[in-house]
Amino acid sequence: MKSFVYFSLIHSLLGASSVLAAVPLSSVKRVSNAPTIPNKFIVEVDTSAQIPNKRAYARTIDAVYDSIKARDVDFDVNKEYDLSGLFTGASLTINSDPSPEFEQSAPDAVALDDIPGLKAIYPITLFKRPDPVSKHVVSSPQDPAIIPAKFSTHVMTGVDKVHARGFFGKGIKIGILDTGIDYTHPLLGGAIGPGNKIIGGYDFVGDNYTGQNEPTPDNDPLDQCQGHGTHVAGIIAADPNNPYNITGVAYEASITAYRIFGCEGSVGDDIIVDALLKGVKDGQDILTLSLGGADGWTSSVSAVVASRIAKSGKIVTIAAGNDGTSGSWYTSSPGNAIDAISVASVENTVIPVQQSIVSGVEHAPIPYFSFAPLNIDGEFPIYVLTQDTTIPNDACTPLPASTPDLSNFVVIVRRGTCTFVQKIENIKAKGAKRALVYDNGNGATGISIPDFPVSLISAEDGLFLVEQFFSGAKVSLSFPKNGEIANVANPRGGLMSTFSTYGPSNDFQFKPAVGAPGGNILSLLPVPLGSFAVESGTSMATPFLAGAAALMLEVKGKNADTARAARTFFQTTAVVVRTTVDENSLPQTVTQQGAGLINVYDALFAKTTVSPGALVLNDTANYKPFQTFTVKNTDKKSKAYKLSHVPAGTALTVQANSIFTSLGPVPLVENAASVVLAPSKFTLFPGQSITVAALFTPPKGVDSSRYPVYSGFIKVEGPGENYHVTYVGLSASLKQKQVVDNTDTFFGEKIPTVLNAAGDSQVNPTNYTFAGKDYPSFLYRLAFGSPLVRLDLVEPDIKVATTLNSRGLGDGHWFTFPFPIKGSSSFAKVKTVGPLAEVGFHTRHNENPDDNGYSVIAFDSPKFANGSTINNGAYRFLFRALKVTGDRSRQEDYETWLSPIVGVFA
Ligand SMILES: *[C@@H]1O[C@H](CO)[C@@H](O)[C@H](O)[C@H]1NC(C)=O
Ligand SMILES: *[C@@H]1O[C@H](CO)[C@@H](O)[C@H](O)[C@H]1NC(C)=O
Ligand SMILES: *[C@@H]1O[C@H](CO)[C@@H](O)[C@H](O)[C@H]1NC(C)=O
Ligand SMILES: *[C@@H]1O[C@H](CO)[C@@H](O)[C@H](O)[C@H]1NC(C)=O
Ligand SMILES: *[C@@H]1O[C@H](CO)[C@@H](O)[C@H](O)[C@H]1NC(C)=O
Repeated sequence: MKSFVYFSLIHSLLGASSVLAAVPLSSVKRVSNAPTIPNKFIVEVDTSAQIPNKRAYARTIDAVYDSIKARDVDFDVNKEYDLSGLFTGASLTINSDPSPEFEQSAPDAVALDDIPGLKAIYPITLFKRPDPVSKHVVSSPQDPAIIPAKFSTHVMTGVDKVHARGFFGKGIKIGILDTGIDYTHPLLGGAIGPGNKIIGGYDFVGDNYTGQNEPTPDNDPLDQCQGHGTHVAGIIAADPNNPYNITGVAYEASITAYRIFGCEGSVGDDIIVDALLKGVKDGQDILTLSLGGADGWTSSVSAVVASRIAKSGKIVTIAAGNDGTSGSWYTSSPGNAIDAISVASVENTVIPVQQSIVSGVEHAPIPYFSFAPLNIDGEFPIYVLTQDTTIPNDACTPLPASTPDLSNFVVIVRRGTCTFVQKIENIKAKGAKRALVYDNGNGATGISIPDFPVSLISAEDGLFLVEQFFSGAKVSLSFPKNGEIANVANPRGGLMSTFSTYGPSNDFQFKPAVGAPGGNILSLLPVPLGSFAVESGTSMATPFLAGAAALMLEVKGKNADTARAARTFFQTTAVVVRTTVDENSLPQTVTQQGAGLINVYDALFAKTTVSPGALVLNDTANYKPFQTFTVKNTDKKSKAYKLSHVPAGTALTVQANSIFTSLGPVPLVENAASVVLAPSKFTLFPGQSITVAALFTPPKGVDSSRYPVYSGFIKVEGPGENYHVTYVGLSASLKQKQVVDNTDTFFGEKIPTVLNAAGDSQVNPTNYTFAGKDYPSFLYRLAFGSPLVRLDLVEPDIKVATTLNSRGLGDGHWFTFPFPIKGSSSFAKVKTVGPLAEVGFHTRHNENPDDNGYSVIAFDSPKFANGSTINNGAYRFLFRALKVTGDRSRQEDYETWLSPIVGVFA
């Protein structure tokens, strides 16, 4: 399958803003905002293809190069890939316009169509290293953030019990694709090379690489400028017996550092693929990638290659993503790789917080919910606004005129009713420069107000301060910058991290696969950056699973069968994560937790195997209600088993009366599927297995317009043993889901639209000279992912009815065009002048304007997608987006929009 892409998925892992406010159209930069590397592609060749004159070539790829040259396409080969059975191809930079008269020339991927031996063309997408959701550098061994003796994350997952049996990952090779590693860190052995913990590595990029420039590779994967890879490496491999008691999950494993990020910026698919293939060539048993970006599809080249490597019998662990606040249908790539293990993040049971020192009265330091110390120098008396410690709306309205100047106090405010921002505005109006907000029972949260130090404290500490203040005590607080950290119980310990990305993918792959501890994780930093830090992210959960996988290979034997079964072992022995700490609360949707929090001990030593680990019932149009799984008794004694159903919350993935997806935390309802199991009770002799049939009925009483994703577990109980098979399905048809945003919600004006020279929506026929700023730009948003988005130039008098509201054209019906729609001249009875752009597997947009909020295609020169010039004349833009599961050859599976007349008069 070939996909021609001129611009594509935008990747980001920044938290989305939770407010969907109109963004002014004037803020839209009329510059194409492609997240791909312009004019660069990865081509994959089919080495078994029948090609003309094959014997004249030593390699198929040479024949492909010659065919491309024969089409007058000028290109450079950046890098070749050749790993038989996995990937053969090259990264090319194409220059179809060697003497460009225009600033930007379009890449000529169209010219590569139908070249014999060419299997696929992939755009080169940029991936971010997921920034840690929070980060705190630990200051000293006395720092109370350190968890005594045993690592809480190891206790949560049974790693401590595996260690107690003497397994530490010895003999297992793990390749870490990240920012490099500071191997000079004493807990990572202090050196690199054979015989050390870090046995080797390679730097594919160099310090200066940003993803947008040329890499400068060398043999040294040392990272002392970024730190992410060192934190990841510490989670897997930190030596124990240190003052911090940090212990790697598999600290006897052998680590190789593949450095694919520079000190700043992103990485392209071309480098990721190169590093993945080198990892395989170097004989790694496990490859782990704490990186990715929102995608929704499984087709990026790094996802495709990672999946093939996993299928070939290596374990590949990849971060699920930190986009939980953006809601469902926003999965990350390459975590989407079908056969890789995508890892979600579960909160650590403890949380390190800062403390404020109390003076004037005897009182222990007051913990405040911040990883970094508040930027407050000196000691300040407190000022309390009201004696009423049950006030629901403290500081929600302007403070009374009698309020003194607050500039020399720490103002104590009660949480509740209005936003933190509003409270701070009101106290700032009276001069306040710092504050603490005491909780009203809602629980721990970070508070971040620009240029105003403020943090949350507990209700108890708040009551104490209020009482002291009104009794006349002279209480002051100070906020030390060093060493005053407390390790408090995490009120969300053991629950899903709110930032952890929701699945499923748009093609309904079961993503994420499982969860591991990733929220509030103590590990290493490069020595020059402070040596130790607490960080949060699926970046932290992913190496935890890689370490657990190393223990599994050590215990069960290092072979391709174990590697291929690893995901199922982890899934079927995982522990259900609930929505609240109440153990009877609704289980969290499996679209966020996958099969649950890993139980490493059971995954390694269970005496029953259950397979597969996950059942995909798909949507109503592709519904697979009948499923089977097997249960095998691998014990030496006969065992009786009992099956039962544990439904999880049904996720309402789309907002009510809206085309937009629900923001995270995605709302859940209790309406659950039901299932009939046959048999539901049985006894198995040693070595015996049984196939269980499961017939599902979707939940009743759910509104399909909310795209409810239901899920849950089939529990398999043996004597003292617990397993489960996890299922997921959708009570709606994805083909019904509106893809294109045709509302005015985002910009306050209807889109899609053509922006004119002034940056306004073009309403009337408009001529463009393409001189200076006088060119049209196409602006659109997708409310949902689309497998194919295309923009064509058409004649102005075209007779088509459109599905989306269009200025001056009104609503309409579908028009027809046949497959193939590639090429140029026509589809069905509708003639096109030529294609302007096409995107395969387009991610949906996000509600944050600065983070994948919308797409712009700026036509600053009058050119077709293939780079050839558009003749002067009058035209329209025809925009089409294929619905999910839509058939490219079926007219009714597209949404369409037609622009006002665009005159090209260059
Ligand atoms: C580290 O573990 C040792 C032995 O279990 C314990 O005595 C010590 O207090 C721990 N240190 C820290 C900083 O937790
Ligand atoms: C990296 O960039 C800096 C600043 O532009 C430059 O001085 C340095 O030589 C570059 N290093 C390499 C290895 O290219
Ligand atoms: C769900 O159904 C769609 C449409 O047939 C298909 O493309 C997709 O692969 C299915 N997903 C899974 C995981 O089977
Ligand atoms: C665009 O230019 C053409 C050719 O000069 C002219 O006939 C037409 O009226 C112009 N249209 C507009 C909307 O200005
Ligand atoms: C480029 O595309 C246009 C529009 O489809 C077509 O007319 C033209 O022949 C193409 N040019 C080349 C060199 O293929």
